[in-house]
Formats: sequence, structure tokens, C-alpha cells
Amino acid sequence: MAKVRIHHFREMKQRGEKITMLTAYDFPTARAFDAAGVDLLLVGDSLADNILGYDSTQPLTIDEMVPFVRAVARGADRAFVVADLPFGSYEQGPELAVASAVDMVKRTGATAVKFEGGRRIARQVKAVTDAGIPFMGHLGFTPQSENALGGRRIQGRGDGAYDVMLADALALQEAGAFAIVLEMVIAPVAEKLTAALDIPTIGIGAGPHTDGQVLVWLDAAGVGDWHPSFSKQFAQVGQAMSDAAAGYVAEVKGGTFPAPEHTFDE
Ligand code: KIV
Repeated sequence: MAKVRIHHFREMKQRGEKITMLTAYDFPTARAFDAAGVDLLLVGDSLADNILGYDSTQPLTIDEMVPFVRAVARGADRAFVVADLPFGSYEQGPELAVASAVDMVKRTGATAVKFEGGRRIARQVKAVTDAGIPFMGHLGFTPQSENALGGRRIQGRGDGAYDVMLADALALQEAGAFAIVLEMVIAPVAEKLTAALDIPTIGIGAGPHTDGQVLVWLDAAGVGDWHPSFSKQFAQVGQAMSDAAAGYVAEVKGGTFPAPEHTFDE
């Protein structure tokens, strides 16, 4: 299958083909999702809470992300690989944002970077795209600003909310973003934003009318205890892993593993 390139996303929007994105954090997962035809692999800063056991995304650093992004980039033959820039690595201004984006791309082989915010980070987005690095936006619920937003709250509600989000989305589009993630945005607002933009929207908890969808893969595969209501478990991988480990423990303790066929004689 041909490699997914930046121009394909607008073409997919124009012909009404849904764009698929899943998070990935390691080589085997990236290989499996790439082979399954997922268009974009996102090494999100959800790495922090989903894989590294942090309470939030805020403590994560570029140095911590690099080995994970590198592994995903190695595992992706077809998919377009996007890496988040973590909290603290772009907010200060365009210079820091470009330095962080270049650092991430150079050290990992990621194709694009994503970071959170609208008009407040538009100068950074312009600088990053001017430096030749594709940029994906992220609006709605933005986990890096969870404290300022007052917790995990659904976005887009109330008078004027759509206008604020539209101004932010247009600023990102104008600055060169090739797509925008909309997280936990009420469906009618996500639908209107999608219609108003030339670039695709990729929703997570934003209803069915965005140009594409993204999920954290552990939620989609049924790993872990947290099951957000906007996600769906397409498999019970967590249960399968527990069953495999329990079977292994039982057979080793019971002396039935390794059997003769697992054993080298002479
Ligand atoms: O970090 C992440 O996984 C994300 C997705 C939730 C879009 O930003």
C-alpha cells in the first residue's frame, strides 16, 4: 500500500473518506496498526498516563518520548506518524516550538508534530510549518491545560463557544495546520467546525460528523480499567493478556510447561 502523505488528508476530506488515527507507543503495536490500514499513528502524550503511569500528561518530556516515537516510526511502513510535543516544550514562543519540533523529528523520524491550543499558539504553528514540519492542531478538551479548564469537561457548550472554537480553528488553519483533533466537543459544534474548515477534523468524543476519528489504542482494545464513554472496546485485549499470564503461571507451577516440544535435548 502506498505511503500516506500530507496531501492525502485534504483529498480524503474532499471525497468524504473517513480518516483513521490510533495512538501507538511501541514497535509491535505500530506494525499491527500499520498492517490493519490505520492512516495515522499518534504517539500522543497520553503515553504519560497510559504507559508510564503518570497521573497526567504534564510531567512528560521530549527525552522520555523519543524512544517510543522512534519505535513507532520504525514500525510504520504506510501510516503517517505524528508525535505530540509535551507540555512545556512550545508555549513560550516560536523559537522554542521550532527547536522542540526539529529535535523531535530529527531524533525520532516522526513525520509531523501536534500540540495543543488555538490562537494563543498560532505564531508557534506558523514558525513550525515555515520550518518545513507538518503540524496537527488539537482543540476542545486539551489535557495539558486540564487544570485551567477545570478538569475533564466537555467543550463547545454555551453561547459563543462555537465562535471561539471557530476563531481558534481558523487561526490554526491559517498558520499551516494540515488537520485538527477535536477532543470531547459536542457533536453539533464539531459538525459545524468540520464544515467551516478546508482542512480535516479528527474527532475523539466529538461525534460522527468529523472527517476522521482517533482513539487511544488501549481504550479501543479493552486494556486497562478506564473506559471513557465516547470510546468503544473493539476487543478485550486486557482480559486476553491476563488469561495468558494466568495460564503461564499455572503451567510453570504445575510443571506442564515447558513440555518436551519446548525443550532442546542434547
Ligand atoms: O495524547 C493523545 O493520545 C491525544 C489523543 C487523545 C488525541 O492527544
